[in-house]
Formats: sequence, structure tokens, C-alpha cells
Amino acid sequence: MIWLIAVSIGCCCCCSLIVLRLLCRKRIKIDGKTVLITGASSGLGEALARYLFNKQCQLILLARRLDRLENLRQELSNLHPTYPKPKIIQIDLSNYEHITSSSILMNILEHETIDCLINNAGISQRSSVFDTSIDIVNDIFRLNYFSLVTLTKLILIKMIEKKQKNSTIVNISSLQGLIAVPDRSSYSASKHAVQAFSDSLRMELKEQYAEQNINICVISPSYIRTELGQQALNRMNNKNEKLIEDNKSSAYEPDYVAKRIVKAIEYRENDVIIAPFQQYLAIWLRRFWPERFFKIMVARNKRLKAKK
Ligand SMILES: NC(=O)c1ccc[n+]([C@@H]2O[C@H](COP(=O)([O-])OP(=O)(O)OC[C@H]3O[C@@H](n4cnc5c(N)ncnc54)[C@H](OP(=O)(O)O)[C@@H]3O)[C@@H](O)[C@H]2O)c1
Repeated sequence: MIWLIAVSIGCCCCCSLIVLRLLCRKRIKIDGKTVLITGASSGLGEALARYLFNKQCQLILLARRLDRLENLRQELSNLHPTYPKPKIIQIDLSNYEHITSSSILMNILEHETIDCLINNAGISQRSSVFDTSIDIVNDIFRLNYFSLVTLTKLILIKMIEKKQKNSTIVNISSLQGLIAVPDRSSYSASKHAVQAFSDSLRMELKEQYAEQNINICVISPSYIRTELGQQALNRMNNKNEKLIEDNKSSAYEPDYVAKRIVKAIEYRENDVIIAPFQQYLAIWLRRFWPERFFKIMVARNKRLKAKK
């Protein structure tokens, strides 16, 4: 009986503390700020660009497909002709040397004050470890990890030199940056690397530049309805293969995820998981009962392959 009372009081205290913390959170609005988004030509990056443009942000949009970026810029400018026109840069980020050799990008970094960097560009895979060539592993890491680190370092140095306050770096990871699944070994590994890099950097900034209050925010979403899976198959020359994932019905719309990311930026959150309840359970299971987690995931993958 005493135990029951103690547990109930404990739960009430925890809930009150959480509610109090949520109520006391300070919001720093992003409206009118300068935001650089990588991978803005489709999916989540495009949705973020639309949402932030409506908040009158000065956007700098990066990707390889120039026609898509131009169409987006045109569409946004037509929507609100008086808002700052987005700047677009065509760049292949998978070669991180391209970042420093892009004179347009370097010029922008030199003369603009970037308030928020969103490292969103990413590629995935759909193949087992045996079927994934080292070239593909390399491509995934070059874009998902090395280019993110390169861009983060370049922009962070400017933020610190200019003594900017309350800036944000958002790193788009994935639920697979917290739990790996079969046939995504390198993708999951690259996103785990993003999580670890971000955690280290966050602590270093708190230690050395606390007064500037630069936030490192990691977003770990579950499936989103975008081109990511299809692009992965195309790159592996499996263009006609049907996607073997159960993400069709449960996937989030990019607009929903974009809105949640902007909320995380404004409320200066560190780590955001955007996933249904059972996927929170999976994270918990992986940590505290790994044998069970692995069994469930193997069975799930077999089921998905059988459905194909
Ligand atoms: N979709 C999901 O289920 C899901 C779930 C969790 C996390 N995420 C993460 O969300 C982020 C956005 O992905 P998405 O789902 O929106 O997929 P997407 O529609 O395929 O978008 C990927 C973006 O990355 C850009 N990109 C790809 N390779 C590039 C390169 N070499 N250089 C420059 N840009 C490049 C693409 O533009 P270009 O092809 O024009 O270059 C595109 O704009 C990724 O980091 C992904 O890992 C996605």
C-alpha cells in the first residue's frame, strides 16, 4: 500500500514537472530570419521551404536539381511577391570538396548572417550488407555525414565570429539513427553518426560558447511520404522494384513534419522524435531487451518481403 502511494506521488510529481517545463518554455520566433536548407528540391526540404517562406524567412535553398529549385522559387515569389525572394544554389553535396569550392555559397556565407542551418539533404538504401557495394556505402556517408559536418563547421565558425545569439543548427536524422533495421545498414549507421556528432557538438558549445546560446537540434522522424525510398532504388538500379516497406499508410506528410521541426527550432528543443507510439516502444525495447527487439525486427522484415 505504502509503495502504491509512493509510486502515485512520484508519478504526479513527474507529470507536474513536465507540464511546468512545457509552460515555462521560451519561444524565439523564426519569422524573418535567414535560413539555409539543404535538399530543398523535394520532400521534407521543400515542405520546410514553403512553411518558412510563409513566415517571411530569407531562404537559401541548396540541391542538385536546379529546375526544381527554380520552380519552387517562382511559385513562392508569385505567392508573396513582397517577401524576400529565395536564393538558390545548385550543388552536389555528396562531394564535400564542392562545398568549399562553390564561390556562390562561399560568397553567401561571407556576406549573409545565417540564423538557422537545416542539414536535410540525404539518401538512403534498400539492400543487405552483402548486396551493398562499398561505393554506395561511400556515397551515403559522403552526403549524410561528411557534407553535414563540413557545412556545419563552416557556418558555425561564422556564427561564433559574428557573436550571433540564439542561432540554430538542425540535423535531420531518422528513427533509424536510433534503431537500425535490416537492409538499411549504411543509412542507419550514417544517421547514428549524425546523432553522435550532434550530441558531442552540443556539449562542446555549452562548455565554450554558452553565452551565444547556439542550439543543436536533432530531428528523428519515422517514415515520411517523400521520394527517399524511390531514389534509393533508382541509385541501386532496381528502378522497377516495388518498395518493400509498410510506410504507405502510416507515413507522415512532409508538411506535418516541417511544422513540427519549426516548433522545435522556436522552442529550442535538442532532440525530437516524430514517430507513432509503437516506435517509441521499439527504441525502448532495443535498449533494454535487445534479443526480443532483434527477433521482432527479423520477423517483420520477412513479413514485408513476403508481401512483395
Ligand atoms: N522519407 C522518410 O521516410 C524519412 C524518414 C526519416 C528521415 N528522413 C530524412 O529526411 C531528409 C530528407 O529526405 P526526404 O525524405 O525529403 O527525401 P527526398 O524527397 O528524396 O529529398 C532528399 C533531398 O536531398 C537532396 N539531395 C540528394 N542527394 C544530394 C546531393 N548529392 N547533393 C545535394 N542534395 C542532394 C535531393 O535533391 P537533389 O536530388 O535535387 O539533389 C532532395 O532535395 C533526409 O535526410 C532523410 O534521411 C526521411
